[in-house]
Amino acid sequence: MNQNDKKKAAAQAAMKFVHADSIIGVGTGSTVNYFIEALESVKNTIQGAVSSSDESTKRLKAMGIEVFDLNSVSSFDVYIDGADEITQHKHMIKGGGAALTREKIVAAVAKQFVCIIDDSKQVPVLGKFPLPVEVIPMARSYVARELVKLGGDPEYRQGVVTDNGNVILDVHNLTILNPVEMERKINQIVGVVTNGLFAHRGADIVLVATDDGVKEIT
Ligand code: 5RP
Repeated sequence: MNQNDKKKAAAQAAMKFVHADSIIGVGTGSTVNYFIEALESVKNTIQGAVSSSDESTKRLKAMGIEVFDLNSVSSFDVYIDGADEITQHKHMIKGGGAALTREKIVAAVAKQFVCIIDDSKQVPVLGKFPLPVEVIPMARSYVARELVKLGGDPEYRQGVVTDNGNVILDVHNLTILNPVEMERKINQIVGVVTNGLFAHRGADIVLVATDDGVKEIT
């Protein structure tokens, strides 16, 4: 199986977490796009979705799925999203698609985070994938200098403005041995909106597509 076949297989496996009458939390990215496609078969049986990006909202609405404002939803059962890297402890780097802040907010409200990945995303240590950090535009240079003090090499993601009107710094060359601590430290830098470490609230279940099928890690 190639990588796209695996992404599709992981997305289809996530359908078992979609129940009638429920509201589904929907992430962002190419793996999630396969999940959105798979929702076609159940779209008339679910209440709707809460979405983590304008892009996913657009896709959901185009299929006729109602997208609720998160402020009107106090709780829902499951959030389905991909990842850029994930460890055996279910800590992740996310934000390759620049949707990290809304992803983290929607994940915080969900009872369960189900991460859908192909097996290339599994790593022993986080940090080979540059860590995305969403930053208030006027704080960009200050935050970059502070990230250098933490040992990283931040790079401004040119031409990208997030759904929240902010910019992204991608931090290279971090070996993240303690993701919980690193997530906390980066969030304390003034001007940072969110960083792409999902460690305080990692995934609860991982559906990883391999050449031998989709494996469920709990
Ligand atoms: C977007 C994300 C995505 O989940 C992550 O980038 C994985 O994307 P893909 O499924 O395209 O590999 O965090 O901000």
